[in-house]
Amino acid sequence: MNAAPPLPAVQTFGLSRLYGPMTALANLDLTVNQGDLFGFIGSNGAGKTTTLRILATFLAPSAGRAVILGHDVAKDADAVRHVIGYMPDFFGVYKDMEVTEYLDFFGACYRIPSAQREKTVNDVLELVGLTEKKGALIGALSRGMQQRLGLARVLIHDPQLLLLDEPASGLDPRARIEMMEILRELQRLGKTIIISSHILSELESICNRVAIIEKGRLIYAGPVQGVRDQMSSGRVVWVRVSSDPDPAVALLRALPEVTEVAPLDHKIKITLASHDTDHSVIAETLVRGGAKLIELREDEIGLEEVFLRVTRGETQ
Ligand SMILES: Nc1ncnc2c1ncn2[C@@H]1O[C@H](COP(=O)(O)OP(=O)(O)OP(=O)(O)O)[C@@H](O)[C@H]1O
Ligand SMILES: [Mg+2]
Repeated sequence: MNAAPPLPAVQTFGLSRLYGPMTALANLDLTVNQGDLFGFIGSNGAGKTTTLRILATFLAPSAGRAVILGHDVAKDADAVRHVIGYMPDFFGVYKDMEVTEYLDFFGACYRIPSAQREKTVNDVLELVGLTEKKGALIGALSRGMQQRLGLARVLIHDPQLLLLDEPASGLDPRARIEMMEILRELQRLGKTIIISSHILSELESICNRVAIIEKGRLIYAGPVQGVRDQMSSGRVVWVRVSSDPDPAVALLRALPEVTEVAPLDHKIKITLASHDTDHSVIAETLVRGGAKLIELREDEIGLEEVFLRVTRGETQ
């Protein structure tokens, strides 16, 4: 007999939230699987924080429901709080507290027995790379270190699911990379992680799945690669020939795989009909037709561009 498939870490069903007449979140259906490092992407005001606060049981939805590891966030909030670690976008720091005091305090809040707390605090400090700052005052930590301390705080009760609201915002590139490395390590340790950001490329290299929301609506959910695929019909290939371009243009225009051929300066811009087209057909056609092909290059569509196109509604 096959083992039962793992529970999804998060499922939302028609989740919505209004603020007065304003719809901050509209009918969100989302599934995050256990073990995912899931990117939650949207521009300012898209509804990321609203969603994460609902999942973290701090905000009631206006309609719909959310289930976390089998627990309904509205009906079973206590159980949900035990299995999640929520790092808000802005969190108060206790500037006059020492790093270990701060973590010990939150350990006590989660009723970790005092005999065990020291080890737990040391373990999470090690994980986020702050062991050397154990005795430091929080106010004396850099922004990146404070963010890592925030992460240590949400790890203290060893939650299965981390909800991280823009944990890398305001960090310099090196601190961002360090933060991403910590998240990768946490994923390796078996955590499920949802991380929000308005920077798509920041999450591209670490997330296995992403959701993109805009004005409270889900516009994409799936593998990172899928975002590109969804956008890449109308792929563009550039070629350069050292021979007369006119016969080459005629050959290319005759191809069914090609929707548009535009000679520009010394290059020819070719738009492919489908993202499944293998562009080697272009090289073969040109060479067989006697053209001297000296360059063939496909436009790499960057995730930032994809994101802009998706959020401008160009995929609809
Ligand atoms: N307490 C509130 N009262 C009224 N409107 C709110 C409140 N909180 C959020 N909103 C509105 O809901 C929408 C979604 O906001 P939310 O904070 O969820 O977006 P976000 O994606 O987290 O944006 P950001 O990238 O700026 O953090 C925005 O239009 C915002 O103005
Ligand atoms: Mg936000």
